[in-house]
Amino acid sequence: MKPRRLPSLALTLTALAAPGCSRGVRRRGAHSKRSNRSAGRNDGRPEGRLWTNGPPRPEVSDQVGSTKYLHFTALPDWTQSLGMIFSLILLAPSWGGMINGVMTLSGAWHKLRDDPILKFLIVSLSFYGMSTFEGPMMSIKTVNALSHYTDWTVGHVHSGALGWVAFISIGAIYYLVPRMFGKAQMWSMRLVGVHFWIATIGVVLYIAAMWIAGVMQGLMWRATNPDGTLTYAFVESVKATYPFYAIRLVGGTLFLSGMLLMAWNTWKTAVGGRAVDAPIPATVRDSLVTAA
Ligand code: HEM
Repeated sequence: MKPRRLPSLALTLTALAAPGCSRGVRRRGAHSKRSNRSAGRNDGRPEGRLWTNGPPRPEVSDQVGSTKYLHFTALPDWTQSLGMIFSLILLAPSWGGMINGVMTLSGAWHKLRDDPILKFLIVSLSFYGMSTFEGPMMSIKTVNALSHYTDWTVGHVHSGALGWVAFISIGAIYYLVPRMFGKAQMWSMRLVGVHFWIATIGVVLYIAAMWIAGVMQGLMWRATNPDGTLTYAFVESVKATYPFYAIRLVGGTLFLSGMLLMAWNTWKTAVGGRAVDAPIPATVRDSLVTAA
């Protein structure tokens, strides 16, 4: 394959200083023809291409802008597209796991009414489904061009990390801890229920705020005036994000408070008991034997 020429540092700096250096212009793939599709957003300015996809050209400012996205890096365009395709394919195994988990509860949904541990587990699966739907969508180049570097990514991360990973771990710990100390259940199941609601409200506030802030930032960063200059300074987007950071703070504080409740509940469960070798329930033991 013919090596690609990259723009020199001098050219890059020149471009950075030039008016119209913005993420406001959509990037197209190496082999796609230019179009006027962006004319509405860009007032007829020629569209830029990836700087890795060809020699430096006069509208290098667009090309420099494009490097701000991980997707739009020095990797050849086809590898970026391949990455996108594999991310889209990932939806299938992820949702297979989620559906499998949810269907395990078939016929036992009524248990959700009075078992807060089960609530943690099922909500965790919902967040798992949500974040593994969102991830492939964010890997689509045109979507990533909006979401990358914004708080949308932060929202995605936390719907996975808090909504899925933390919830499933919390549920599992609430199930295991009393058994480790020879108890039937946690010191206070009521507190487990309170924890569930605090954590759920916290994580929803957190990720909703980040989603809205992210889309707003992406739109502000790409907005251009008719002369090609940026409509907003970066600091204006930071200022506009303040209210959402306040909501994020509330959400995060709620989530943290839930963890402190959990620590207290775990402590009370542990001090009142003694460590035992918990018997493995027959159903689990049987399935382990079958698997072996
Ligand atoms: C099929 C599943 C998933 C796909 C295809 C996917 C895809 C993506 C994409 C496209 C981004 C944005 C990259 C960027 O613009 O910089 C991203 C960010 C991220 N995702 Fe996911 N995601 C998935 C599920 C998850 C889950 C379940 C978690 C957490 C448990 C997670 C954690 C993260 C993290 C930590 C980032 C931020 C990475 C960074 O900025 O350095 N993802 N993911």
